[in-house]
Amino acid sequence: MAFSDFTVPLFHPLIVFLLLSQPHGGQLQVIGPSQPILATVGDDVILPCRLEPAMNASDIRLEWARPDLSPGFIHVRANRQEYVAHKQPSFRGRTSVSINKLQHGDVSLKLSKVRVSDEGTYRCLVPSLGPPAVIKLVVGAVSSPAISTIYTSSRKVVLDCESRGWYPEPEVLWLDVEGNLLSAGPTETVRGPDHLYTVSSRVTVEKRHSNSFTCRVQQRTTNQTRETHITVPVLSQWVTVILAPGLLGVVLVAGFTIHKWRIGR
Ligand SMILES: *[C@@H]1O[C@H](CO)[C@@H](O)[C@H](O)[C@H]1NC(C)=O
Ligand SMILES: *[C@@H]1O[C@H](CO)[C@@H](O)[C@H](O)[C@H]1NC(C)=O
Repeated sequence: MAFSDFTVPLFHPLIVFLLLSQPHGGQLQVIGPSQPILATVGDDVILPCRLEPAMNASDIRLEWARPDLSPGFIHVRANRQEYVAHKQPSFRGRTSVSINKLQHGDVSLKLSKVRVSDEGTYRCLVPSLGPPAVIKLVVGAVSSPAISTIYTSSRKVVLDCESRGWYPEPEVLWLDVEGNLLSAGPTETVRGPDHLYTVSSRVTVEKRHSNSFTCRVQQRTTNQTRETHITVPVLSQWVTVILAPGLLGVVLVAGFTIHKWRIGR
């Protein structure tokens, strides 16, 4: 193979582009995570971002932003302090960077008390170093359901299951003690001012020997499940039919005995 055979493709625009975009000696880059970051409502989360190769970033201008918001700046640092003048109000008092980590090229942002509205795409930019890193934040919220008895007769019970504070929207399932799906009424869903979902569902069950039921609330996208069990007291009818007359009998016999004992003295 002649030398000229591969000098031609070497100057192909794509190859030139690949060669130019290779990180080499001293060329600094801003690097974010390749996967979305998951956070739970109310928790704190770190949005990772670092300089590669690592350098002391304590004196560098750093801009964290949410380009979809206005104003879009989340955390701007320059001259070794945060500039809050054009900061997005919903992030006020909830962002910070670690001075210690900055010295080692870690420009990650700590976001406190995560809200549903924090879900979105963030930009980590060091203007002197070129293009920003993009960080995707996904927010979720879960809570345990509560079961209450709405109506009870000798043969049937109506149960209600409610769970407040979910994001994204979950589904509600009723199961019997063997794990079989019960057919329940439609799930009612309400979204609160905090963007969290409250779901509830009612089921009518027959009182049988297997009288334990489960309400399961699950989120398929985040693979989160919370469940609560209830045991329906099937004995209640027997208490009234058999035990109550029995107790009455005991009271009468005792009263009669005491009466006789007093007369006998
Ligand atoms: C980083 O730079 C700051 C300011 O120039 C300096 O005070 C600090 O000691 C440096 N840290 C490291 C680890 O070099
Ligand atoms: C969901 O969670 C269950 C149990 O925790 C696990 O077995 C399953 O593999 C998970 N599925 C996905 C898609 O993560």
